[in-house]
Amino acid sequence: MEQKLDNNNVTNGRLGSVFEGREKCTGSVLLDYLKCAPAGVCIKGLERSFGNHLVLKGIDLDIDPGEIVVILGKSGAGKSVLLRHIIGLDNPDAGSIRVAGEDVHNPDFSKHHVLAMVFQSSALFNSLSVGENVGLYLKEHKIINDDSRINEIVSSALELVGLGGKEEVMPSVLSGGMKRRVATARALVMNPDIILFDEPTSGLDPMMTRTIGDLICDLKSQVEITQIVVTHDIDLTFYVADKIAVLSEGRILQVGSPDEIRNSRDAAVQEFIAPQFG
Ligand SMILES: Nc1ncnc2c1ncn2[C@@H]1O[C@H](COP(=O)(O)OP(=O)(O)OP(=O)(O)O)[C@@H](O)[C@H]1O
Ligand SMILES: [Mg+2]
Repeated sequence: MEQKLDNNNVTNGRLGSVFEGREKCTGSVLLDYLKCAPAGVCIKGLERSFGNHLVLKGIDLDIDPGEIVVILGKSGAGKSVLLRHIIGLDNPDAGSIRVAGEDVHNPDFSKHHVLAMVFQSSALFNSLSVGENVGLYLKEHKIINDDSRINEIVSSALELVGLGGKEEVMPSVLSGGMKRRVATARALVMNPDIILFDEPTSGLDPMMTRTIGDLICDLKSQVEITQIVVTHDIDLTFYVADKIAVLSEGRILQVGSPDEIRNSRDAAVQEFIAPQFG
C-alpha cells in the first residue's frame, strides 16, 4: 500500500549511501494488532568480564520510550554482549538495567514486559517452516487460540518484511538476509515493548538494507515502539537513529543526536565516523 508522503518528513539518507534521497516512512502495511507500550531503558554502571577480559567497562545509557537508539561500534566493541544483558540473557558483574523502571533480572520481569531480539544469527528453528517460526510464540504462549487469526497475523508480518507468501518455506533454503527478515517478523508478532536488532543489515544487499532501514522507521512512525539497534553500519545509523551511542572497546564515547555525533569535537568519535564521511 502506498502512503502519501509527508513533506515535513525529510530524508536523512547520507549522500552516496543506499539511503540517499529516500523519504522516511513510505508506509508498509503494519500489523493491525500491534499495540506496543513503548518502554524506556536505564542502564547504569554496567560491567562485564569474561575471564580477565573486561568487555563492558561501565556503560551508562538512557533510552526514552518510543526512541530509536543506535549503538554504533566496531566488531568486538561489545555490542552483542550489551544486548544480551539488556534482554536479561546475561548477568552483569556490576551495574543495572531497568526497563520501564523494572530490573530486567527481576524474576517476574517477563510477566510484565516483552523484549524481542532479532539475533545476529537469526536463530530460527530449522525443523519448523517460516510460518511456524513466526507464529510459534503466539501458539506456545497461548496468546491467540484461533489458528486462522494466527495465520493472518503471521502472513501480515511476513508481508511487512517483504516475504509475503513464504509461510511454507523451510529456513534451510533461505539466504542469510531472508532469515534475518523472518526473525524480524517473529520478533514483531510478539508485540514487544522493545525490539532489539543485532546487526540488522550485515550481509544484506543494498535493496534489503533499505527495506530494513525503512521498516525500522515505519515501526517508529506507526507503532511508536522503542527500538535498540546495534550495528557498525554508519549509513543505517544516520538514517534511522533518534539517538546514537558510540561504543568503543566496552565504553560509550558519546551519546547524542545524529547531528551532535556528526559534529562531535571528540577526536575518537570523529575518527570513528570520519572515513565514512570522507
Ligand atoms: N561468552 C563469551 N566468552 C568469552 N568472551 C566473550 C563471550 N562473549 C563475547 N566475548 C568477547 O567479548 C568481546 C565483545 O564481543 P561482542 O560479541 O559483544 O562484540 P560485537 O561488538 O558484537 O562484535 P561484532 O560486530 O563482530 O558482532 C569480544 O572480544 C568477544 O570475544
Ligand atoms: Mg555482535
